[in-house]
Amino acid sequence: MPFLSIMDLHVNIEDKQILNGVNLDVNKGEVHAIMGLNGSGKSTLANVLLGHPRYSVISGDILVNDESIIKLSTDARAKKGLFLGFQYPTEVSGVGYSHFLRNAYNLLTKSLADEQKNREVFLTVREFHEYLKKNLDNVGLDPSFLSRYLNEGFSGGEKKRSEVMQMLVLRPNLAILDEPDSGLDIDAVKAVAEAINKLIETGAGVIVITHYARILRFLTKLDKIHVMSKGKIIKTAGRELSEELEVKGYSWLGLAEDSK
Ligand SMILES: Nc1ncnc2c1ncn2[C@@H]1O[C@H](COP(=O)(O)OP(=O)(O)OP(=O)(O)O)[C@@H](O)[C@H]1O
Ligand SMILES: [Mg+2]
Repeated sequence: MPFLSIMDLHVNIEDKQILNGVNLDVNKGEVHAIMGLNGSGKSTLANVLLGHPRYSVISGDILVNDESIIKLSTDARAKKGLFLGFQYPTEVSGVGYSHFLRNAYNLLTKSLADEQKNREVFLTVREFHEYLKKNLDNVGLDPSFLSRYLNEGFSGGEKKRSEVMQMLVLRPNLAILDEPDSGLDIDAVKAVAEAINKLIETGAGVIVITHYARILRFLTKLDKIHVMSKGKIIKTAGRELSEELEVKGYSWLGLAEDSK
């Protein structure tokens, strides 16, 4: 049984159909990439997996461990071990970064009973702080970020590093990362990929949405690459597909820039 099973998923935003029959299985610990032209529905899929209220599921289903999650709240989905790293992380003024992470961590640790044995148990605020500092260091962010508000005034690249740092702290069973490499300098792409590799080592699954082969080259594990077009997955292949797309673009798949 796959950890995640997306079955013939049709999704609308207002009255516009965006996803048009997506099928995707991700087994425990598998690493998948989703590529595709701008506007093909990649972020829509990511957002709908975590239950963003703007999107309506018209038909089809999303199963986690064989149970439908489409009626669950975003919180309940997070408690099942799903994590979303946003394409455009929002700034949350007034919410302290370390306070936010400690609350989220505690909530998840309580609910992920089966995973407890794999998670650090924190006795003190200081120990948790050390754990955060270690993870900040993993993504190349300075400890001073802990005393700031969540994402407020972070640069584009800092926001992206911050997303994967949250992922490392929360240790999801499946992380969906929407363009974790966009806007990053070359060293940062490597740092973010290494953070993803650390999560992979814990046995978690990952779905990376990206436009570029570069970040995928750094990943220690990559099981499948999918191409999305017009709200559907139209091709699935191995690691070599991203290199082929980098050289040839999408036209050889019958996709032109004007046929999202
Ligand atoms: N609120 C909305 N109202 C109408 N259309 C929308 C809305 N939100 C998204 N769309 C449309 O849904 C389509 C898919 O968008 P989505 O963000 O999923 O694409 P994407 O594959 O992530 O693209 P990119 O690579 O540019 O990030 C686009 O045509 C977009 O304009
Ligand atoms: Mg997108």
